[in-house]
Amino acid sequence: MSSSSHHDHPLIPLSHLGDLSVTEFLSDYWQKKPVCIRNGVAFQEALIAVDELAGLALEPEVESRLIENNGDVKDWQVIHGPLVEADFNKERDFPWTLLVQGVDCFVPQVHDFLARFRFVPSWRLDDIMISYATQGAGVGAHFDRYDVFLIQGQGQRQWQIGGTCNENSALMAHDQLCLLQNFDVHQEFILNPGDLLYIPPLIAHKGVAMSDACVTYSVGFRSPSYGDVLASFADERSTDISADLRLKDQGFAPKSGEISAKDIAVLMQLMQAQITPENVAQWFGKHSTEAKYPALDMSEEAMDQTELEAIIKDGYGVLRVSEGVRLAYTWQGDGGLTLFVQGEALPCPPDATVFIEAIVNQWVLEVENIAPLLAHDAAKAMLLILHNQGYLYFADE
Ligand code: SIN
Ligand code: CO
Repeated sequence: MSSSSHHDHPLIPLSHLGDLSVTEFLSDYWQKKPVCIRNGVAFQEALIAVDELAGLALEPEVESRLIENNGDVKDWQVIHGPLVEADFNKERDFPWTLLVQGVDCFVPQVHDFLARFRFVPSWRLDDIMISYATQGAGVGAHFDRYDVFLIQGQGQRQWQIGGTCNENSALMAHDQLCLLQNFDVHQEFILNPGDLLYIPPLIAHKGVAMSDACVTYSVGFRSPSYGDVLASFADERSTDISADLRLKDQGFAPKSGEISAKDIAVLMQLMQAQITPENVAQWFGKHSTEAKYPALDMSEEAMDQTELEAIIKDGYGVLRVSEGVRLAYTWQGDGGLTLFVQGEALPCPPDATVFIEAIVNQWVLEVENIAPLLAHDAAKAMLLILHNQGYLYFADE
């Protein structure tokens, strides 16, 4: 075990966005107001080659769109993926944008880039969308209901920022694009590679590519609506409660048409009894780790304990969380740890908790440092379960 040799692993969360410390960013801007940060995130080279991005858009399991800015906004065409070769070979004398969702689920470097935004809880991370645009192209003025970092990957893009929208903001009549009818420009920025623009939920924005081969990385966050929270919690609880438990009346009713205060109190009590720290943690752990793309095939070749011990002994490479896998854990009231992975809850044996905490918080562990975490058989067994499901894998780096 050596603690010496290692430079920052690329998965370590960012401490700064450009010159701004993450602490300052979180207190001054996060969920409050937009900010443009020059050289916000350094990267050595493009996260993905343009032809690889186009290749992903051809895959049936990948969510993609191609937007054609042909003529008037109301006539803009949206081609939904999976795209076909002909969509790319088509001659266009107007600007267009290819948008590919969830690229972090498919490309390790993009997954690692997403990992760097874990200065907030990882359950908040949604995905990285990557767009490729020709000069003059854009998806129009709109607002999103979640926070987003827009990072220029290649080329140049102009961003205009408007005011705060809500569910009553007037939208243009367009079947497939939710575009704002009114857009007042409050701020304007031109982004070069590495520059970052943070946009809080509900803030209107509009991007236009100022160059060909304009690539933008959008780091998107999840914010379930209160409605989703309540519906999903109720849904989870309902599967756990015996159908034999039924609502009763309160006996004699002098006014039989009235729903009494007592009736309401009984209903409230029934509902409130479900809201315990255990129930809420169990539900939220499952809910927040549900896979973005549940159908993705994660299968890894199964490994047994002997093979695992050989890897640990070699001390080479890293153990990584697989692309597209969502993990979290919670400490329950009884002192036990529950691991959540891809929407499932796995109670974790006490001897495995140190390992589980390490991999779920770090997303990558150097094999040369892993032995102490796996001292107990229970920890190795947990690793093997996760590995053999395809949730973790060993790699060179
Ligand atoms: C884009 O990358 O062109 C659109 C991103 C966004 O506005 O959310
Ligand atoms: Co947007």
